[in-house]
Amino acid sequence: MQVVTTLAELRAARAALTGTFGLVPTMGYLHAGHLSLVRRAQAECAHVGVSIYVNPIQFGPHEDLARYPRDLPRDLALLQDLKVDLVWTPTDAEMYPPRFQTHVTVERVSQPLEGARRPGHLRGVATVVAKLFNAFTPDKAYFGQKDAQQAAVIRQMVADLNFPLEVVVCPTVREPDGLAMSSRNVYLSPTERQAATVLYRALCAAQARFDAGERDATKLRAAMSEVLAAEPLAHVEYVSAADPDTLDELERVETRVLLSLAVRIGATRLIDNFRLGDA
Ligand code: PAJ
Repeated sequence: MQVVTTLAELRAARAALTGTFGLVPTMGYLHAGHLSLVRRAQAECAHVGVSIYVNPIQFGPHEDLARYPRDLPRDLALLQDLKVDLVWTPTDAEMYPPRFQTHVTVERVSQPLEGARRPGHLRGVATVVAKLFNAFTPDKAYFGQKDAQQAAVIRQMVADLNFPLEVVVCPTVREPDGLAMSSRNVYLSPTERQAATVLYRALCAAQARFDAGERDATKLRAAMSEVLAAEPLAHVEYVSAADPDTLDELERVETRVLLSLAVRIGATRLIDNFRLGDA
């Protein structure tokens, strides 16, 4: 496994790898969700690269950039065990030199949900991912369904800007009690960790209604809200039943629906989603 820091080293190492190349962008503090993306990439590509970079421009001024969890030695050991070919750990100075001034804004699909709650977040994500695509020139890039809007934004950017690669979205990996794995779960106290299962329980309640034939999106949102309301530690930011591609809020579900929610448990903001109605 080659671990490189500068863009020049990355380009040289990448050029030496022939055959299909898969990229897994991450912010590190790796868990089983990240590793599932790496394994999927290895199953589909001759070589796999991982980026580890806590991207400052996707954090708002009052968000957790300074305390975002980091453990590079552990991350590298995990990737070494999986025999990843190439890891890029760029510095802020390399990624955003002093006169940096170009950003990628994916317009409509970035506006609702996370976009409404975290202004500039998805612009920061699209910008860094565009830079990672140009640096690694992957044939395929792997993202988690856990961040459903992020995946939709990247898909749209790839289509709109003609990036010659395929976006692959992989299933959400969960803890045994249903909590979606996230680097941010370490922020939760034991009591909060218990309460955090409410996101999964809310999604399951709405799914049960969908499976029983409910197609009124308002009722699906209400099913989630009802479960969330019963958890005193949960502060709801949004509950959504939207079109999985456009993220427009639905009145009725014709075929497919993205149920998603953002909830604060104490000081920790958690998101989760189920995508229903796929053939
Ligand atoms: P990060 O939160 O580190 O996540 C890296 C990738 O892992 C993302 O595609 C995310 O959706 C996926 N992922 C996270 N938790 C997962 C889970 N429980 N199951 C499956 N996949 C999961 O998302 C980012 O970093 C950044 O925004 C990034 C795309 C790297 C740009 O900075």
